[in-house]
Formats: sequence, structure tokens, C-alpha cells
Amino acid sequence: MARNDKLKFGAIVHGVGGTTDGWRHPDMDPGASTSFAYYKNQAQTAERGLFSFVFIADGLFISEKSIPHFLNRFEPITILSALATVTQHVGLIATISTSFSEPFTIARQLLSLDHISGGRAGWNLVTSPQEGAAHNHSKAHLPEHDERYAIAEEHVDIVRGLWDSWEDDAFIYNKETGQFFDPEKLHALNFKGKYFQVRGPLNIARSKQGYPVVFQAGASDRGRQFAAEKADSIFTHSENLESSKSFYQDVKNRARRAGRDASQIKIFPGISPIIADTKEEAETKYKELSALIPYERALTYLARYFDDYDFSRFDPDAPFPELGDIGKNAFQSTTDYLKQHAKEEHLTLRQVAHEAAFPRSQFIGTPEEIADLIALWFNEHAADGFIIGSSYPHALEDFVEKVIPILQERGLYETAYEGSTLRENLGLPVPENRYAAAKIGKL
Ligand SMILES: Cc1cc2nc3c(=O)[nH]c(=O)nc-3n(C[C@H](O)[C@H](O)[C@H](O)COP(=O)(O)O)c2cc1C
Repeated sequence: MARNDKLKFGAIVHGVGGTTDGWRHPDMDPGASTSFAYYKNQAQTAERGLFSFVFIADGLFISEKSIPHFLNRFEPITILSALATVTQHVGLIATISTSFSEPFTIARQLLSLDHISGGRAGWNLVTSPQEGAAHNHSKAHLPEHDERYAIAEEHVDIVRGLWDSWEDDAFIYNKETGQFFDPEKLHALNFKGKYFQVRGPLNIARSKQGYPVVFQAGASDRGRQFAAEKADSIFTHSENLESSKSFYQDVKNRARRAGRDASQIKIFPGISPIIADTKEEAETKYKELSALIPYERALTYLARYFDDYDFSRFDPDAPFPELGDIGKNAFQSTTDYLKQHAKEEHLTLRQVAHEAAFPRSQFIGTPEEIADLIALWFNEHAADGFIIGSSYPHALEDFVEKVIPILQERGLYETAYEGSTLRENLGLPVPENRYAAAKIGKL
């Protein structure tokens, strides 16, 4: 069925990249993860490509086994606040964990970013998959997988509640009468839950876009249900067209069952296209990038998904080992996928490690081939848009300069920004203030 909406893109800006050895590429600045110049250039490139947003992933625990980008990188709200001042249109999405943060602090930080940027802030809500994060936040243990989502549910309800503290026209600023605000339009939340007790109100005015946009990244059964009920958008994996279609349908169905308009939850698989003038050149580029990663480091990368499980005692060329429940309390959806994929394809440990460390994307080819695939996924309802990752230097530039014009020619992509806020650019409605709506009998 043809679609009458348009494709949307975000760019994940990820310093030296998501692999163990991408920083060794001859054209890569090894200090990119803490280079403001690099982030500024990427955000401005995304804006040139009319991207809806840039996306900053994050984590709260490192060890000597972490990949280079994780060892030395910016805190999301801080870098996005700086990027807000050198961009005009592109949305700014910060990854923040509900397991290790206070809703009051997050609500405040995101609204501050929203005001600084003129309504372009977003939150990638994550639940934190690593045990070590607990030890950086004065906690003995990471809460177990499903409980982390129960915490997240309370957390996001509080954050949105606090974002309604002030009605839109609450600040009067009448210098003659001395009235700064209308007390009838200021509301305390008085939330008392199992995990949080938050009185409110929040000490910053409501957003131009109602609420900052809430993304969620997490794909297990529990994660999908959470997203379907609470998220505005989802960042997810992109193994293949069929699995992405089924994920898309599943989440949209869950959203409908939860009483939501399914078109108001946007699904963004992450892809890292490798683009060249011919298919062969693109394949060569992929092989060169993959060859930068030695087996030992690929294994360390794989182990991270399993909470740094020690794989070194297994024969690399024997079938991928039986792991039982190992990995269940970490990146559950990813570890489940890897175990199943290894079994179905009869892969060895070495093969799984290399695939995890540098996944072989289907999006390898000429600009036309990449555009064809993107159009196919969009038209087949496997995605509402994509989050574009960079697996080599200048990957984002290649995408913006070579693929975007093809999609525009085909009428699948806008030729100008539609609105000024992130919500407008994603085609999401502006939520009404709950107290204002209640006064006129809408709630
Ligand atoms: C595509 C994707 C991106 C993610 N990005 C992050 C991230 O940047 N930071 C983080 O702490 N967790 C991230 N997560 C982890 C999730 O928030 C979640 O804790 C983990 O995936 C376990 O939940 P699940 O089993 O529902 O997927 C990501 C997960 C997925 C699937």
C-alpha cells in the first residue's frame, strides 16, 4: 500500500564510531568523540540533508574492554546544548537512563534544552543494560530486566506530568501590576508511586512543542509493550526487511490495542549505509572496514552484550556455544537475536563475534541501490524513517549528498523543513496541557 507521508531521517553522531577499530581508519580523527568541531560538522551536515534530528547514544559504565568511543565521549545534554547554538532546524535527542536518574532532573534538563533550541529537544529513554552502571550510582545491583521497565513507566509519567507544571500562558509578565505569573496556571504533580515520590511543580515553563519527543530503544517483549504505550518514536535494530516488518506491525498493533493512534508512534531502524560509485567498490569498502578488527577485539565487543561474559575459553571455530540464560539481564533482545541467529545459520563463535563487531548491513551499494532499499522498507511498512549511522569517515556526507537527492526526486522526502519544532518535523501532534484541557472538560 503506497504511503502518503514522507520519509524521516535522524543521524546518530557517534564520534570515532560504534566499532572497536574504526578509529584506525586513515581518514578518522581519533579524537572525534570529544571534538566539538566534529559534532558541529556532523549536526550541520544532517541539517543540510533536512534530517529531523541528531541522536546521541550514551552509556553509564566503562571498563578497559569498552570500545574506544565509549571510553572518552560527551555527556548528551551538554553536547546537544552546544549544538543547539550552531543549528537552526535539526532536532536534538539525548539518551538518558530511567534506571539511574531522577525524573525531576531529566524533566528540567530536557525542557531547558527545548527552550535553548526553540522546541527541538528529544529524549531517547533507555533502561541501562549493564550491571556496572549500578556501581557508578551508589547501587549494589542493576534492577532486573522487567523491573527496569516498571521503573521506566513511573519515570516517564512523572517527567511528562512535570512538563505540564505550567500552562502555556501561565507567565503574564505584567510590569505594571507586578504580576509575574498566574497562580491558577501553576500545578503541583504530587506523584506517589512505588519507585518515585515527586511533588513538583517544575521550575521551567512548558515547551513550545508541548512535550519534548520521547524515543525509546529496547526491543524485547516488555520493551515493545512499553514503547507501544509510552513512546513517541522507537530506535530499533534492522536485521532484515521481514523482521523489521514484523517488528513494525507488532508495535503498531500493540499501540492500537493500548488505545493509541498508531500513526503517532514512529519507528526508526538504525542503518549504517556503505556507499560507493559501484557495488564492487562498496563491497571492498566493507571488507576493508571489517578487516580493521582483530578477532580478540571482536570477541570483546560481542561479550559486552552479554555483560562482559568470558568467551575466551571457547574454540573460535567451533559452533557458537550454548549459553542458556546468560545475557538475559543485559541487552536481552540483542543477545536473544544473536543466539538464535547463530543456531539457525550454524555459525561459529568467530563468525558471530565478527558479525556483532561489524554487522554486515544490507545497505551496501551505489546511491541508487541504497535509495531503492530505503524506499522498499518504507513502502513495505518496515520503517517510518531511519537513523543513519556512520561506519566510515564522511559516511553521513555521502548519504546527504548522494542518496537524499534521489529520494527527493522520487517524492519520498521533503525539500524543505516542514516546521520549526521536532514534533512538527516528525509529524507528531502537540500534546495539550492536561490541566488546561481538564478546565475545558477535555480530560
Ligand atoms: C537500537 C537500540 C539502541 C540502544 N541504545 C542504547 C543507548 O544508547 N544507551 C543505553 O544505555 N542503552 C541503549 N539500549 C539498551 C536499551 O535501553 C535496553 O536497556 C536494552 O536493550 C534491554 O532492553 P530490551 O531487552 O527491551 O531491548 C539500546 C537498545 C537498542 C535495541
